[in-house]
Amino acid sequence: MHGGPPAGVWAAPGRVNLIGEHTDTSEGLVLPLALPHTTLAAASARGDGLLRLDSADAPGGVVELRVADLAPGAVAGWAAYPAGVLWAMRAAGLPVGGASLHFTSVVPTGAGLSSSAALEVATASALNDLYGLGLAAERIAGLAQRAENDFVGVPCGIMDQMASACCTAGHALYLDTRSLAHRHVPLDLAAHGLRLLVIDTRVTHALGDGAYANRRAACERAARELGVPTLRDVPYAALESALTTLAALADGPALCRRVRHVVTENHRVDEVIALLDAGAVRAIGPLLTAGHASLRDDFEVSCPELDLAVTTANASGALGARMTGGGFGGSAISLVPEAAADAITTAVTEAFAAAAHLPPRIFSATPAPGAHRLPIDPATPA
Ligand code: GLA
Repeated sequence: MHGGPPAGVWAAPGRVNLIGEHTDTSEGLVLPLALPHTTLAAASARGDGLLRLDSADAPGGVVELRVADLAPGAVAGWAAYPAGVLWAMRAAGLPVGGASLHFTSVVPTGAGLSSSAALEVATASALNDLYGLGLAAERIAGLAQRAENDFVGVPCGIMDQMASACCTAGHALYLDTRSLAHRHVPLDLAAHGLRLLVIDTRVTHALGDGAYANRRAACERAARELGVPTLRDVPYAALESALTTLAALADGPALCRRVRHVVTENHRVDEVIALLDAGAVRAIGPLLTAGHASLRDDFEVSCPELDLAVTTANASGALGARMTGGGFGGSAISLVPEAAADAITTAVTEAFAAAAHLPPRIFSATPAPGAHRLPIDPATPA
């Protein structure tokens, strides 16, 4: 497709989130880590004003678009993500033109592991280098989020794109999604005799289906009722008085549940960070499980398969477990003692079989690096 070797190959990872779920749409705190699973973009600049896209993972062949014609709503399917990135860069006034991008990915799609962000960030990283833009990783994440919000039409927060662009190997990313200030928090689970299991329920979720937008809108409405810019501005100590204010509204009970989740979840992120900073990794387990209960009961974004993964892991020796990502399917994570990992994997697999669910896909996650250009010269034969 390039008429020659690509100019380079860029990689961007998927992620899991350790804690801080459904807080980024309220400018809250999150703690994701990058997965070793990446999306690769083999890419070259083009001088003919065309964007030529194809993916080893998507049927349908090459998608060819005129850069000058890119507009929200003009591109459907997977190609909207990379096309949206190029559109967002040009809308920001950046001097970017045509490109050929060939993708291949091992980030599971629809599994709550940020395959969309990986695709966007791989595209943005490639265009950044091909056109010599010199953008910082935070800026790449912001452009990728703009592509998803305004071109694809999914009102996601910025956690996934920041994780894919900014994470470093061996660390989780403690991120304030309001200021984008972040700190790389060491997470050497093996040194503590632990593992982080990812349990992909294989219930496919789609953030574009309305429930995500509905939760975000409820949080924005609650903030308006409370007279604050976002729910980030409701301190943990002020939660009860906020709930009293909201309870009087017609839809008060539902709004109270949403607010209680966001405010307590921000607090849990701070508690987890304090424990990690103190080297008390095992002690974060109950906070993960409390986060799951809050997502299930208050934010109402879990599903039976995620609940079963969490309860089974915890009943089989896990230190804690929770859904991760947007929910309504996708994946759970579980912090487990190394010695119990196999037994927990078996127990979850058997519980899914007994409930007649699809067999889950279970793997261990170690914190991997964020987006980068591969140190290879594609023009040189191996
Ligand atoms: C999805 C969104 C993120 C975040 C999570 C929930 O992954 O893309 O911005 O809102 O859901 O924490």
